[in-house]
Amino acid sequence: MKIITLFLALIASGAVALAATPTDSSAPHLEKHNGIKQLYVDGKPFLILGGELGNSAASSAAWMKPIWPQLAARNLNTVIASVTWQMIEPVEGQFDFSSVDDCIIGARTNNLHLVFLWFASWKNGQSSYPPDWVKNDPKRFPWAVDGFGNTMNILSTFGDATRDADAKTFAALMRHIREVDGKDHTVLMMQVENEVGIVGDSRDRSPAANAAYDAPVPKDLMNYLVQHKATLAPELLELWAANGSKTSGTWEEIFGAGKSPTYRLWGPDLTDEKKNIYWKQLNWASDEFFMAWRYSTFINKVVAAGKAEYDIPMYANAWQQQPGCPRPGEYPSGGPVPQVNDIWRCGAPNLDFLSPDLYIAEFDWDCARYTRNGNPLFIPEANTGGGAPGNALIALIKYNGIGYSPFGIERDRPGGRGGFGGRGRQGQGTNDIPATPVAPPPDVFAQTYALLQYLAPVILDNQGKGTMVFLNETRTTHTNTELVLTGEDGKPLAVFQGETTHTNAEPQELKLGDYTLSIKYGVSANGGGGRGGRGGGFGGFGGFGGAVSTYTNVSPLRLVINKSPGSYVFVGGPMTVSFKPNDPAKGKAILSSTVETINQDGQWLPGRWLNGDETAHNTRGDPEGSGFYMRTFGVYGYSVFQRK
Ligand code: DGJ
Repeated sequence: MKIITLFLALIASGAVALAATPTDSSAPHLEKHNGIKQLYVDGKPFLILGGELGNSAASSAAWMKPIWPQLAARNLNTVIASVTWQMIEPVEGQFDFSSVDDCIIGARTNNLHLVFLWFASWKNGQSSYPPDWVKNDPKRFPWAVDGFGNTMNILSTFGDATRDADAKTFAALMRHIREVDGKDHTVLMMQVENEVGIVGDSRDRSPAANAAYDAPVPKDLMNYLVQHKATLAPELLELWAANGSKTSGTWEEIFGAGKSPTYRLWGPDLTDEKKNIYWKQLNWASDEFFMAWRYSTFINKVVAAGKAEYDIPMYANAWQQQPGCPRPGEYPSGGPVPQVNDIWRCGAPNLDFLSPDLYIAEFDWDCARYTRNGNPLFIPEANTGGGAPGNALIALIKYNGIGYSPFGIERDRPGGRGGFGGRGRQGQGTNDIPATPVAPPPDVFAQTYALLQYLAPVILDNQGKGTMVFLNETRTTHTNTELVLTGEDGKPLAVFQGETTHTNAEPQELKLGDYTLSIKYGVSANGGGGRGGRGGGFGGFGGFGGAVSTYTNVSPLRLVINKSPGSYVFVGGPMTVSFKPNDPAKGKAILSSTVETINQDGQWLPGRWLNGDETAHNTRGDPEGSGFYMRTFGVYGYSVFQRK
């Protein structure tokens, strides 16, 4: 369906007449609750369970046609898709929004939301997405220059005409999105540009850039740093102090030496040992700060123009500093990496937040750095595969994130990439006992999102309250040549050959609400697991007990939420929990109820109220007793109270 059809459809439904104003309060926006910002859509908080498409996917409606329903079937609620300057303004001033409309229709008809990526002046540092009329006019739209005098494939931030043309087109795009979507809110947010920064040198060395670099640091920035000294990123503060905490001077006078123009990046002197040092510190800070100021102030104007047309949340994302690209220029210099977030906050106050593209192993550490100073956490890009479910929980539960979105989602094959595929052999992801050991691996990612969709209202209600704990996993790999899956009668049902991976975790005690919870993971040594394969759809994680009781096997998806006094929701298993009152004077812990959640046809649904034989008549929670047993992976609600 092209733009005219979309307009006709909207006119028929009355949507055009009702189209939102640029600052319509019903538009998606951020709202602060319990000290953290959440995304509000149609009056309610919304948790983005997303996936980012590969860069070129959204350019073809035909190519996307079979993809949309697949993404919906994997329980995504939001797709992150590109809109390119090249496609929407092939001739200056003449807009073609058909690719945008195709995306909106594709998402909307599959009950999906969208976050659009504005691939315009820059994408991964480079400038491959501007239309030819921009690329072919270097006088009007100048290019950055490296230390050897080479023109880079990067538009210079010193092109005011570039900024204004980008902003004008972005404004037209936002106006169009408001006109076609201001009522439906399929489009939730905008990412402005993509992973900006200079790659190939540590800064732009064009004549205009050199002149600005040798001039005093702009007053606005210095005033901001002075006023926000108490909350600045420790890396920035330390470096500033190490150079004498000056409040005026050139970039190098205040922040130290930059890189020599002809020093070659990624040179042979960049040993592994040096990489390991460089990637966790500031290097050539003057160059990076200078570029951060240039990019942030440029993007601030683009954002302002867009928001004047349709004010929905907008953010900028960053390629992270990491061992393979440890210094600015090896990763894009000037992008919103954590050590320069303060410069971005000053330079681009119109942005709602800054986001990491988070592929590094130190996922948790980087989330912590991106939540400094109240920055809401949204992960637009991350790895697919085995780590994705656990990382989703770190972002959404531990760091109260507004959304999570692995990259290249349409290329991700259930269980095919990453560590969970192998585990699938232990169960089938259904409620049936497997007949043969060979079976397709479970789609753990889709199941995680199903679970998160089910729990989203509780998660959103608890974000920021300190009432949710993500139970970190530790992993070890065992090589087993034979595993026996047993039935309830203890007789072997299936024998699995080959290598299997198990996730193990240490017992854990945590104080949450009025109780201290003792949690033991896995299956107890004296059995008690018994029935294999149930696992509520997470068949790969269930199914141990009886004859294989020496193995522990727990899901990486483990969390506990203290919903209200005495009311706890657990996700995980197999595990055992007992509750010890923090105030023994009020009596001992008594189990009021246990409610399970079951998975049917991929949906998480309310399950049984467990009592009687299933919970030893609610006596098992006695701290001296064995504790409540979550036999397989699942969702369990426990209510406890105290009685003398
Ligand atoms: C990060 C970029 O932002 C994405 O657009 C994509 O190019 C990926 N890298 C590729 O891994």
